[in-house]
Amino acid sequence: MDNLQLLAQWLKESTYTVVFTGAGMSTESGLPDFRSKTGLWKSKDPKKLASIEAMYQNPHEFYDFYRQRLATLGEAKPHKGHLILADWEKKRIIQAIITQNVDGLHHRAGSHRVIELHGTLRESLCLKCQKTYPSQILLTEGIPRCSCGNMLKPGVVLFGEMLPQEALRQADIETRRSHLFIVIGSSLEVSPANFFPLEAKEVGARLVLINLEPTEMDERADLLIRDKAGHVLEKIDGILKTLA
Ligand code: APR
Repeated sequence: MDNLQLLAQWLKESTYTVVFTGAGMSTESGLPDFRSKTGLWKSKDPKKLASIEAMYQNPHEFYDFYRQRLATLGEAKPHKGHLILADWEKKRIIQAIITQNVDGLHHRAGSHRVIELHGTLRESLCLKCQKTYPSQILLTEGIPRCSCGNMLKPGVVLFGEMLPQEALRQADIETRRSHLFIVIGSSLEVSPANFFPLEAKEVGARLVLINLEPTEMDERADLLIRDKAGHVLEKIDGILKTLA
């Protein structure tokens, strides 16, 4: 039995399956990841562009960076892998998706139980009066401001910021329930998000890593699949249909 057949078998056997996605889940939709050789952080310094200090100290560069990300997001669409995960949720093959991605592609594919650990680019908010705006407001030139006059922050978790407590709480609940925990397209280099695969192992779940490159958690995995997310999900979906 090869790795894909084994994972299909484990999906059949599992009573509670959680999928954990990173930027590698969205590269086949045309969005760059961060740490592979073509990743965003290979050519840009995240501390200078994606931190709360950057927003106040060099706002023009900061907002230009998010305007660009928003523009590329506008052209991106969920790929086959996103659609398969949404279909698996409907068929109760998986129970939840915990994502580090802010692109909203899981929602647009039709997934409902999606926990966004790093927030979302779909909206921006005022840190003073907590008012939220659709992120299209970032597309206007200059520094986007709230009606109260304060600068608006993209709804994503910036370096130096705490993760949303409710998302962390929900991700913890789902991880503790998991019998099968499948990581797709993440280097697992960023904490506290990278804590969840370890927590899954602690509660006795089988840990599967689907990633094009090695990660620092490979030796903790019960199964490693070194291939593209969309291709793996399509193959497994085909196998599951023969096992149905
Ligand atoms: N299929 C499978 N794996 C892929 C694919 C693909 N099509 N494309 C890229 N990958 C792999 C890369 O090899 C890389 O190891 O996905 C991984 C993505 O890792 P990162 O770029 O580090 O992205 P991620 O793990 O999501 O980063 C976590 O870091 O900058 C912050 O907030 C940002 O949420 C992000 C967090």
